[in-house]
Amino acid sequence: MKPISIRPVEERDAAAICGIYGEAVRTTVSTWEYEAPDEAEILARLRGIVGDGYPYLVAEVEPGEPIVGYAYASRWRARSGYRFTAESSVYVDAACRRRGVGRALVDALVDACRARGLRQLVAGIGDLDNDASIALHRACGFVDVGVFRGVGWKFGRPLDALWMQRSLTG
Ligand SMILES: CC(C)(COP(=O)(O)OP(=O)(O)OC[C@H]1O[C@@H](n2cnc3c(N)ncnc32)[C@H](O)[C@@H]1OP(=O)(O)O)[C@@H](O)C(=O)NCCC(=O)NCCS
Repeated sequence: MKPISIRPVEERDAAAICGIYGEAVRTTVSTWEYEAPDEAEILARLRGIVGDGYPYLVAEVEPGEPIVGYAYASRWRARSGYRFTAESSVYVDAACRRRGVGRALVDALVDACRARGLRQLVAGIGDLDNDASIALHRACGFVDVGVFRGVGWKFGRPLDALWMQRSLTG
């Protein structure tokens, strides 16, 4: 694969994000959403995240071609005291996995969050058998914090959530 370049999201990326996320919604428990959002909803969410001042990055292989992955940070909890902590999310096109795209995105997201003065990133991993996500986050410096047992439900079964954390201050 050609070198991956990481850039800030643009509104024209919404269609590709919609496709990547929709596949994850329909086929995985990495997200506990049941219905894949349409492009308008993805665009509204994107605008909300960028409007709140959080980084939203995409991975491009060929300039002008649809992006192959994305990662963003978003508000974790609403109370003021949580404002230096954000939650991270990362999704890579199923056809482009295990080629370093996720790693490039999360490493760049860590840098972008630190540059914005954030102090901690947290990631909620569903479920415990999401080996790819757990290994990716560990590779990017996240450490395991703890497991909430049975807090999710999808595809007719209960799901666990592994919470991981990356300090941005060390
Ligand atoms: C998790 C995900 C983003 C990883 O993206 P990716 O581009 O395939 O990851 P990378 O190629 O950058 O892998 C980085 C490291 O993560 C680990 N890793 C990635 N996929 C793995 C897998 N299937 N099994 C075990 N380890 C894996 C490896 O340590 C890998 O480094 P290596 O290839 O040098 O061994 C991707 O699998 C995905 O989009 N999954 C569905 C959505 C999801 O689970 N998102 C996370 C929500 S919290």
